[in-house]
Amino acid sequence: MPARKKLLILAGDGIGPEVMAQVRRVIAWFDRFRVVSFGVVEGLVGGASFDAHGTPLTEETLADAKAADAVLLGAVGGPKWDGLPFESKPERGLLRLRKEMALFANLRPAIVFESMAEAAALRPELVRGLDIMIVRELIGGIYFGEPRGIEELPDGSRRGVNTQVYTTEEIRRVARVAFEIAGKRTGKVCSVDKANVMESGVLWREEVQSLRDEEFPDIALTHMYADNCAMQLVREPKQFDVIVTDNMFGDILSDEAAMLTGSLGMLPSASLGAASGKGYRPALYEPVHGSAPDIVGKNLANPLAAFLSFAMMLRHSFALGDEAELVETAVGNVLAGGMRTADILQPGTAKVSTLVMGDAVLRELGKLTA
Ligand code: IPM
Ligand code: MG
Repeated sequence: MPARKKLLILAGDGIGPEVMAQVRRVIAWFDRFRVVSFGVVEGLVGGASFDAHGTPLTEETLADAKAADAVLLGAVGGPKWDGLPFESKPERGLLRLRKEMALFANLRPAIVFESMAEAAALRPELVRGLDIMIVRELIGGIYFGEPRGIEELPDGSRRGVNTQVYTTEEIRRVARVAFEIAGKRTGKVCSVDKANVMESGVLWREEVQSLRDEEFPDIALTHMYADNCAMQLVREPKQFDVIVTDNMFGDILSDEAAMLTGSLGMLPSASLGAASGKGYRPALYEPVHGSAPDIVGKNLANPLAAFLSFAMMLRHSFALGDEAELVETAVGNVLAGGMRTADILQPGTAKVSTLVMGDAVLRELGKLTA
């Protein structure tokens, strides 16, 4: 009997359901042909959940997420829900999932596939062979810090407040993840902060450095200010291997890094909690691209980031590195064959729909394992 894993799929809003429908096909393929099979439960999150239940995340869905071996999420948000009060916004559903599942480490690999170097926003020689891993702190910092809110002042004007706050433990646990990942790569970590302006950045820098000195002497650690990092990413991106940074800087820098790979439609992500004694580690996998309201329902969305997120799940939740590589190789081969969704179309390539891209990856999986 192959191992059976419990998955929760939260397709969410916008193009989420379209790309997750393609992932369901890959899951079905694995169920039939590979060493692992999946028991899938589906649920609602974001605007879809708000429309059905009046909240972007129900207690039941949260319980399902905690009970699953891994969660696959499509995307949340869209103009339809823009007018909602802050606490009901689709994004709150995703943020609450991250927080309640204690997913403190967000892995965002920016990898340039060989055939995609020409599609990037930078000159091909700057990005060819690029392979960066951004490790973003995900449940702390200004996203969650207190006090927060909008208050009315005596003169009738208003004041908006958010708080950037980090503790020793919050910094060290995410830095540890970055060092461990770097140890399996080139051993280089660049820690990014604004220690020149923020006390929380000073602490960030000191804690990352002392963890390195105490436990990871083989890691080559450098530090960089976030504004400089944003600049260096477009100047000479290949200087980076692993980048570790806080929640807000990670949000911004990972979008920037995504464009180095050709399109936001290519970037997967993994959000991980701490491994428990029994080997269980809470985990959620999602494409970075978001809900893309402008192309919803048109069969135009790029499903590759969702496939690559599924591959990250195989690797990080189930230690199935070979199976993950199979999916990644299939994606690379389809790209090399010249098929492109609209977002990554280049001269000399063929424009295909979401569905046809899904067909192509499935066909390639079949070929690779024939
Ligand atoms: C991301 C997104 C989210 C974030 C939004 C949708 C809340 O931009 O995952 O990068 O800001 O973290
Ligand atoms: Mg973002």
